[in-house]
This record gives sequence, structure tokens and C-alpha cells, in this order.
Amino acid sequence: MSVMTNIWEKAKKNKKVIALPEGSEERAIKAAGIIKKEGLAEPVLIGIKEIIQASAKKLNVDLSDVRIIEPAKSDYYENYVNLFYELRKAKGVTPESAKETMKDEIYFATMMVKSGYADGMVSGAVHSTGDLLRPAMQIIKTLPGISIVSSSFIMELPDKDFGEDGVLLFADCAVNPNPNAEELASIAIATAGTAKSLCGIEPRIAMLSFSTKGSAKHELVDKVIEATKIAKEKAPDLLIDGELQLDAALIKKIGDMKAPGSPVAGKANVLIFPDLQAGNIGYKLVQRLAKAEAIGPVSQGFAKPINDLSRGCSVDDIVNVAAITAVQSV
Ligand code: ACO
Repeated sequence: MSVMTNIWEKAKKNKKVIALPEGSEERAIKAAGIIKKEGLAEPVLIGIKEIIQASAKKLNVDLSDVRIIEPAKSDYYENYVNLFYELRKAKGVTPESAKETMKDEIYFATMMVKSGYADGMVSGAVHSTGDLLRPAMQIIKTLPGISIVSSSFIMELPDKDFGEDGVLLFADCAVNPNPNAEELASIAIATAGTAKSLCGIEPRIAMLSFSTKGSAKHELVDKVIEATKIAKEKAPDLLIDGELQLDAALIKKIGDMKAPGSPVAGKANVLIFPDLQAGNIGYKLVQRLAKAEAIGPVSQGFAKPINDLSRGCSVDDIVNVAAITAVQSV
């Protein structure tokens, strides 16, 4: 069974409330109809009711059982204004600015998740990554013990010899441009959680570098060595090793030769890249050249699930990310 089929099954068993703040966007409206029909989650569209309903009619989408919420007209508006003001007054938010901010669909939906009205949120078909993640970083914050929000891609390769029957997780490929050692350790631990919860994989984590076990000396390598040490201290039960070159992480013969006795080398199923340039280029290389399916970016580390879409996303992408978000909130 493919990773996504498994995720759909899990989502259907735990029907969660998922906020879609880009409610007027045609793709979001179509996705909401499918999410409801397939029983993947309870979608809630945020936006102007008349516009959404007129659009749904034109698109022939049945939204009769889908909730639509217009921030400024909602019964929750005042409550969210006050909550947001309390949360952010130390950062310069005033009662007046909170009123304006809560009219914004993304902020309003983020507050729905914070307050427990929704279990998760999916957005980004129209907004940039930063516009979506910044409110969530300000309001939702991170899980205990995780210092930063990061992201991973679930890569499904046609070649089943790699990773876990062809499935690998890559991180961080979308959020943190230049994590320090402590942040890199946090990314590794969060990705292990994603591997378990979304893919049912027991993670074997390789901390990637251009050096294997001291073969090169450089401050960039030192960061990966330090991150490996911190991750092992913070999560002693995880199988994690570094620093490893990519071939030592993935190919048994090379792993045995370059990192003998390693519990990860030659059989890694989670790859942690040293920075965003490596991670972003790395996942796109594998997606394009090895024709892997790249599922993500999946946000990880948030206290409650918030997920980003690419602006070129399809209706199916929104449906799949909603299912992922629902499973993350279980
Ligand atoms: N984890 C948790 N909190 C964070 C993080 C993080 N990684 N980064 C920033 N924050 C918090 C800050 O602590 C701050 O909180 P506070 O206001 O309570 O003090 C708040 O978020 C805002 O901080 P800024 O430093 O102002 O954050 P900024 O908006 O500059 O950056 C962002 C955040 C937008 C996510 C940035 O890291 C970014 O642009 N990353 C790259 C995204 C990108 O372009 N990716 C590539 C494309 S995606 C793709 O190809 C699939």
C-alpha cells in the first residue's frame, strides 16, 4: 500500500476538523467537497460566505454540509481578538491592531487551531510559505522539547532497494535556511516523529555531510558532528549516526567500509541535510532524476499541525495535505 493510501485510511478513522483559510480559492472549494465526500476530515472554509457559495455553485461542488466561517462576522471573532492580544501584547500588538489582524483569514484560522475549534490548518495555494508559517510560529509555537519548526518530504522511490522499501524522509527542505547544531538535532528528532506517525517507519537517521567519520576536517563538518551528539543525548532511543556522506548512508557496501559498526550506515531511511540549500536541492534532484514522488513539505515541530501548500498545487494536493494534517493531529 502506498504511503498516501495509508494516510487516507488513518485520516478516515479519526475524522478531524481541518481549517482551509483560502476559502474563496476555487481549488480549496473543490478540495473541501472531496474531503467531505471521502470522509477524510471535516473541512471548514474561511472566507466570505456569499462568494464561496456562489463559486461552489458555479463549480458544481456540494458544500451543503461544509461549515463556512467569515472572520469578522463570526461569534468567535471578539474572543480571538482578545486571545491574540493577550498572546502578543509583549510583542507590540494593541487591542486595535489585534482587531485588524483577526480579520485576516490566515491569522483567524491559526487562532481556530490554537483555541481547539479546529485540529489543524492547510493553506498556501495563494499565500507564500512565510505568510502562512509566521502566524503559526507566533501563535501555535513548538512542541515541548522541540526548539524549531521544520519540514520534511516523504520521498517514494520507484527503486525499492533504498530506505524502507523505497520510502525515505528528507529534512529540512523548506523552512530553516541555516540551522545551528542544536536546531539540526531538533530537525532530526522531529523527522523521526514524522517517519513514525505518517509512514509507520522505524527511523534510521543519517546526519549528512561531505565527510564520513572524520574523513574531512571543516567547521561545516563540525556542525554536523555536534548536531549528531546533541540528537543522541536528547533522544537516546533513536538510531542516529553521523557525520555520513550520502553514499555511506544509503549503500551497504560503502557504509560497511566507511562507517563499520554503524547502526544506520548503508540502511538509512531518514536523511538530515546540513542546511536548506542542500535539502531543497537534494529533494528536487531525487524527485526529478530518480522520478520519486515527493510528498510535502510536511511541517513538523508545531504544537498543533499547520501545513503549507505550494502555490502551484492541485486540488488533489490540497486533499492529500489535509489528510496528512488530520493524521498529524491524532
Ligand atoms: N521555528 C519556530 N519559530 C520560528 C522559526 C522556526 N523555524 N523561525 C522563526 N520563528 C519565530 C520567531 O521566533 C518569531 O517568534 P516571536 O515573534 O514570537 O518572537 C516569529 O517566528 C517570527 O520570526 P522572524 O525571524 O521574523 O521570522 P521570519 O518571518 O523572518 O522567518 C520564515 C520565518 C518565513 C519561515 C523563514 O524562515 C523563511 O522564509 N524560510 C524559508 C522559506 C522558503 O522560502 N522555503 C523554500 C521554498 S519551499 C519549497 O521549495 C518546498
